[in-house]
This record gives sequence, C-alpha cells and structure tokens, in this order.
Amino acid sequence: MYLDVKGIIKSYRDNTVLDGLDFSVARGELVSLLGPSGCGKTTLLRMIAGLVTADHGTIRLAERDVTGLPAHKRNVSVVFQNYALFPHLNVSENVGFGLAARGVSKAEQRTPVEEALALVRMEQFADRPISALSGGQQQRVAVARALVVAPDLLLLDEPFSALDRKLRETMQVELKALLRSRGITAVFVTHDQEEALAVSDRIAVMNRGRIEQYGGPMELYSRPATSFVLDFVGMSTRIAGTVKKVEGRSLLISTAYGEVTAPGNFIQGAKVLLGVRPEHLDPVPGAAGSNSITVALSDVMCLGAKTLVHATASGADRIICEQSGAAQQGLPSTGEPVTLSWNVEQTLVYPAEGVQ
Ligand SMILES: Nc1ncnc2c1ncn2[C@@H]1O[C@H](COP(=O)(O)OP(=O)(O)OP(=O)(O)O)[C@@H](O)[C@H]1O
Ligand SMILES: [Mg+2]
Repeated sequence: MYLDVKGIIKSYRDNTVLDGLDFSVARGELVSLLGPSGCGKTTLLRMIAGLVTADHGTIRLAERDVTGLPAHKRNVSVVFQNYALFPHLNVSENVGFGLAARGVSKAEQRTPVEEALALVRMEQFADRPISALSGGQQQRVAVARALVVAPDLLLLDEPFSALDRKLRETMQVELKALLRSRGITAVFVTHDQEEALAVSDRIAVMNRGRIEQYGGPMELYSRPATSFVLDFVGMSTRIAGTVKKVEGRSLLISTAYGEVTAPGNFIQGAKVLLGVRPEHLDPVPGAAGSNSITVALSDVMCLGAKTLVHATASGADRIICEQSGAAQQGLPSTGEPVTLSWNVEQTLVYPAEGVQ
C-alpha cells in the first residue's frame, strides 16, 4: 500500500488514544477517518504528518519508512481545521509559504503559486489580505497552500467544519473533483457521516483508538461489522433480543414485539441487538419467510423525497421505517397499530452492548 500504518499505540499518561491501530491507503485513493469526538482521528492524522510521535508501530509512505522522520522531511501536507493561514501575509504569500520554506526563490514561486490558486479558482484574489476573505475563500487558500508543494499525501482535518451546509456541500464536490483529476492521495478527518460518504472511496470508522471497520460506503452501510458502525453510519431500527433457538445459521430471537428470525452465529440464550435499515421495513404484513412486528405508529415525517415512519419502542429500542416519496396513503394514524415487515436476510445481529 502507498500509506501503511501498522500497530500504532499512543498513550498520554494512562489514556490510550490509539490502541494497536492498523490503517492503509492505496495510491490516488480518497479515504475518510470517521468517528466520534475524542476517538483519536486528529492524533492519527498528526502522526501520519510527523507532528506526533508513536509509542509503538510503524508508518510507511511511498516505499519509505517515515516513522522516525520529522514532519518537514515527509512531503505530507496538512489542511488544519482552522486553516491556520498567516494573517500578516496576503493570499499568494500564504500559498507560497511552503515553497519559500524549501528555499524556492520568490521569482520561482510565481508559476506554481498561480497554478495552485487557479486550481481552487482564487487567482483573482492573489493580492488580498487574508482578513478580507470569506470562510470558503480561506478554505480554498488553505487547500492551495497544501497542494503547491506537490505532496505525496494530503491530510485534511475536518476541513469544512467552519462552513455553512450549502458551502460545505459545494466544497466537498469541488475538492473531490480536484483531488481526483490530479490523482492526489488524501485522508480526510470528519465526524460527519454524510461528508465521509460523499467524499471518500473508503471510510475507516474509528472508535476508541481503533478502526472498527474499513470499507466502501455501500459495504459499511449494508454490512456494518459492529453495532457501533450500524449506529454511526446511517439510520437503523435497533431491537434488543435473546436467542431462543438455534438451527444451523438460523436464529429464533425473542424480542419485546414477538419472535423474529435472523441469520447468524450465536448460542442459545445470547443477548443480542437486531438491526434493520429503515428502507427494508415495510408497513404492510409480510409474506411467509419474513419477519413482522406490530407496533404503535408514533410519528410520520415527510422529508420530500422520502417519508420516515417512527413507531413506539420499548427501552433503548428504536423503530424507524423509510418509504420513498411522500407515500402516506394506507398508513394508520398516530397511536394506531402498524405492522412492519422485513426480509429475514436483511436482519443484522450483533452481541448486545456490554456483553461482548
Ligand atoms: N497532547 C495531548 N495531551 C494529552 N491528551 C491528548 C493530547 N492530544 C490528544 N489527547 C487526547 O487524545 C484523545 C483523542 O484526541 P483527538 O484530538 O485525536 O480526537 P479526535 O477524534 O480528533 O476528536 P474531535 O472529533 O473532537 O476532533 C482525546 O481524549 C484527547 O483528549
Ligand atoms: Mg480532531
């Protein structure tokens, strides 16, 4: 792999921040590190950049062991969350900074700086002071500054978090197209699952200093490896249950809403968590071979392209069903029972939390 991070351990006093982490990125790939606040995303990114040292483990980049190399010898660029632009320098001086630091003369900086600004469509702002730019423009300058040195790897730490939703979506599309067209290898840090799904070829879902699952957007969504990934990527119905009977790979599970069948490997008596994606639930009694539960409808939310149906659930359970379009006909009214059905094969089963 182009970037290979192996067996990384990092602790601050007795707080283990990265816990035996492995991570790799192919050349030209756009990858996201997705996870909740404090799970170690920034620490891993800074370690790849050479700004934080590992207690154990190795980092290889472009056929070189860079584990012990300082940041300025790695040819890695970072776009920080707050952009970290220099307020006393204008736009082109900011973009040229990395070149100046490498001893490139002012005259020789001109062409690459102009090219980098053109890439982010900021060429007409070359002489502006940083203070006279909008958030989105500053973000573009930060990207130009990172790209001007032709890095082997571009690292971006929540690069769009300061932007409003519309601008963020525009920047995601633009940056993805730019990195693709230049064949740049990049790692994005985000805690926004939609952003991760939008910008990446693969997503590494991080939890407590480890990667729980690493895969393409569809794989993560349709085959979440753990209940954490099920929860973190996309919406789902989640129902607690106990395995009542095991027949080969077919489990009969008792829940607060009756018995359901699911494929999986668990022993009789195991406490489990059932997951079903909302679009797999149908608010009509199912055919033979499918699961059905009857619950009270609690809310119908029409979101334009889709309609969400919520049902009353017990304990920490959550029951949610998605219909495409504004399909409200045939649904009972709030408080009335509704029968939700889904295919047995679309039932995901995990060990119940706390008993793994
Ligand atoms: N220099 C440090 N000294 C002590 N603890 C640190 C240091 N840097 C990070 N940590 C701790 O390491 C853990 C992971 O921090 P990190 O910044 O990597 O999280 P993150 O996933 O980027 O979170 P966020 O989404 O909030 O940015 C946190 O508990 C944090 O307090
Ligand atoms: Mg962070």
